Amino acid sequence: MKDLSPNKADLDPIEIASIDEIRATQLERLKWSLRHAYENVPMYKQRFDEAGVHPDDLQQLSDLSKFPFTYKNDLRDNYPFGLFAVPRSEIIRLHASSGTTGKPTVVGYTKNDIDNWADLGARSLRASGLRKGDMVHNAYGYGLFTGGLGAHYGIERLGATVVPMSGGQTEKQVNLINDFRPDGIMVTPSYMLNILEQFHKAGLDPRESSLKVGVFGAEPWTDAMRAEVEAAFDMHAVDIYGLSEIMGPGVANECVETKDGPVIWEDHFLPEIIDPVTGEVLPDGETGELVFTTLTKEGLPMIRYRTRDLTCLLPGTARSMRRMAKITGRSDDMMILRGVNVFPSQIEEQVMATGGLAPYYQIELYKSGRMDAMRVFVESSPDSTDELSKTAAARMLTKRIKDVVGVSTEIVVGDPGDVERSQGKAKRVVDNRDKD
Ligand code: DLL
Repeated sequence: MKDLSPNKADLDPIEIASIDEIRATQLERLKWSLRHAYENVPMYKQRFDEAGVHPDDLQQLSDLSKFPFTYKNDLRDNYPFGLFAVPRSEIIRLHASSGTTGKPTVVGYTKNDIDNWADLGARSLRASGLRKGDMVHNAYGYGLFTGGLGAHYGIERLGATVVPMSGGQTEKQVNLINDFRPDGIMVTPSYMLNILEQFHKAGLDPRESSLKVGVFGAEPWTDAMRAEVEAAFDMHAVDIYGLSEIMGPGVANECVETKDGPVIWEDHFLPEIIDPVTGEVLPDGETGELVFTTLTKEGLPMIRYRTRDLTCLLPGTARSMRRMAKITGRSDDMMILRGVNVFPSQIEEQVMATGGLAPYYQIELYKSGRMDAMRVFVESSPDSTDELSKTAAARMLTKRIKDVVGVSTEIVVGDPGDVERSQGKAKRVVDNRDKD
């Protein structure tokens, strides 16, 4: 793989500033953000007053722990625009996430917000190893989802050529990659596997493609998946993290030279890790729920927003700013089987490590008597479709999951193509526990 490390002179100075400078910037911006939220959003005024805190009470960054949390439900309860801190007429873009239940959550951006987002998108792509003059195939979905347009503006801001493909039409994706010869691709990791499969169907060697780097995010993925995709395409695979409520893609991004977890762009977002049960702030290095406070957002300031993503904060390496460990999962995705906590990513690691299987999987939860049980649907790799190989792979995967994750599972090994393919974010878990 090509060395794509960016030139230090091209970085934003704050990326490699001293920790003291970064903390000073954060403190100044945090004071502004708390006041902005308090003075312009009735919910924040009410919450702060109820908690007996005022923006003036923040003297140092650690004082933030006195302020109340904000939850996804707060966005739903104030649907659609109740948490906006500026008049609607100053909002130049809306996005929304569908969510599985209830009303969508709506987010809004001022002109400055969109500008900052484009800057951070460009910074993220530079960290990924892309640069001005490159071409980037953007297969994140365009529309209300923040992925497509968020990535799009970042690519343009970098000075690269954007191919605004969006998701779906996998055959066309591959044709365009083959014809246009982009340097980078932005897409969910699960959809990248779909694209990989189409390369093979079309009789093309993915290792011969022009792609030098893939910028993958919007869903959890493992280092095992990274190794799989990097080997298949002979390209770098880096992790981009973000969420609509805080901005969209580019809240944090991994550096291609280290690939050791996304660097949080701390000049715009202040991270905390908390114990999800007690709400207590945990020290760096301990795993818990990631909480973000926006430092510059005008349209929709978020104070101590509970992401439900589980990770830990790590010291800076390629940049001064802190990193987050690859997300193990969301607290909502955690399955509990006979008292053992299990995340889909743990199953993914074992599927990837088992010979004779393709990298596609889906987990079904069901009731076995009164207990919750798990079935994992996988498929054989194209060269191992005979019954003997399938049985051996099923036995091996069952044993691995039992030994490493600690739970008993039923494994169903299908033929190539049997597991539902992702078009964007993959649906990893099907919950049939309320069905007979
Ligand atoms: O998924 C924004 C995004 C688009 C990020 C494209 C990266 C690339 P939402 O739809 O609001 O926004 O979903 C946010 O997706 O809280 C995480 O649970 C999950 N997520 C996003 N990026 C990652 C990642 C976009 N790199 C939710 N690793 C977040 C693990 C991720 N999970």
